[in-house]
Amino acid sequence: MGSLWIMRMIPARQQALKALVSKNERPFFVLFPQMVKDNARHFMDAAKKRFKKSHIYYSVKTNPHARVLEVLDSSGIGMELVSLRELRAVKSFSGKKIFNAPAATEAELREALAQKCLIIIDNLSQAQLLHSILKGKPLDVGIRVRMDAHRFGFAPQEIKAAIREMESWGLRMVALHAHPGTNQTLQDYHNFLNRVHGLLVDFPPIRILDLGGGFPGNENLRMRKTGIPAYMELVHETLGEFLPQVELVFEVGRSLVEDAMCLVLEVQHAKVVDNAHYALMDSGINVLSKLSMSPLRFIPLQESGEKKHNFFLCGPSMFGSDEFARIFAKLARGDIVVVENVGAYCTELAWNLSRDVPSVLVVEK
Ligand SMILES: Cc1ncc(COP(=O)(O)O)c(C=O)c1O
Repeated sequence: MGSLWIMRMIPARQQALKALVSKNERPFFVLFPQMVKDNARHFMDAAKKRFKKSHIYYSVKTNPHARVLEVLDSSGIGMELVSLRELRAVKSFSGKKIFNAPAATEAELREALAQKCLIIIDNLSQAQLLHSILKGKPLDVGIRVRMDAHRFGFAPQEIKAAIREMESWGLRMVALHAHPGTNQTLQDYHNFLNRVHGLLVDFPPIRILDLGGGFPGNENLRMRKTGIPAYMELVHETLGEFLPQVELVFEVGRSLVEDAMCLVLEVQHAKVVDNAHYALMDSGINVLSKLSMSPLRFIPLQESGEKKHNFFLCGPSMFGSDEFARIFAKLARGDIVVVENVGAYCTELAWNLSRDVPSVLVVEK
């Protein structure tokens, strides 16, 4: 599978990685901003084709690298933000912004107001805090509704009373927000949309319908033989009757960045224990968290061993569980393995344990 990837990889990409290896200490991440741009364009085109009024926002927590944010901002993508740090990172951007943080602090709400974000209300305590900051001044806000049993937002049956309460405080509800959870299959997404439909049938008119994220990255889309246009089609089919009146919002994370970054690792030592072959790498679960839910692919970029073996790839930490992949390759000390699809959450979930988080090198072309 590895060599196939290399054949599929544009030779220029392979050369670029080899050039970086010759000049930089491993391990390192590599970011390809053009892929972020292409993913954004593809998503925007798919939405534009199906809906008159839609706007795409980027879920900044997925990968807040400055170059990622710049590329998306200049592509016309808005920003979906959950913290003061994220708000500060996009302060100079003049595009649309959504602030959507259940545990928002007063400082975060003040900064979100200063940046004219659409604030999504998760609970009445947060609404009350916002009301006190505003000193009675009215504000258009969104309200988050949960479509599953989790703690985010209001349950559907609580929404009407919550809106009445908020409106008595001058918070006018103009947006309804629901997020289906990440990496949705088409079937999951359809079920989610059906639940949203059930809610909208009996709901006061709203200006903005924010459907959150949930779209898989390109690797999973390919494996499932589908694409973003199929998701847009489902939205159109399921919610079409409400769409002429509302602006649709998508808060997209992994689909824009998952495949736009790779990680380059070096084999520090190869060894055999009880007939099993191990390649001891310079990074492992410290940067490849399972929580990222990414379809990681492990591809040898440089192999100098004598014979192919089924290698366990292991990280440098002292955890027994730090065996993160198996590959059939000819690995020896100094060889290089590339991990694909690390653009979503991997930099943000990386541990600081004993070693620094690898730096990010940027390849513009
Ligand atoms: C509220 C909200 N919106 C958007 C996203 C982005 O989701 P995805 O990466 O699946 O596009 C998330 C991620 O968990 C989220 O919690």
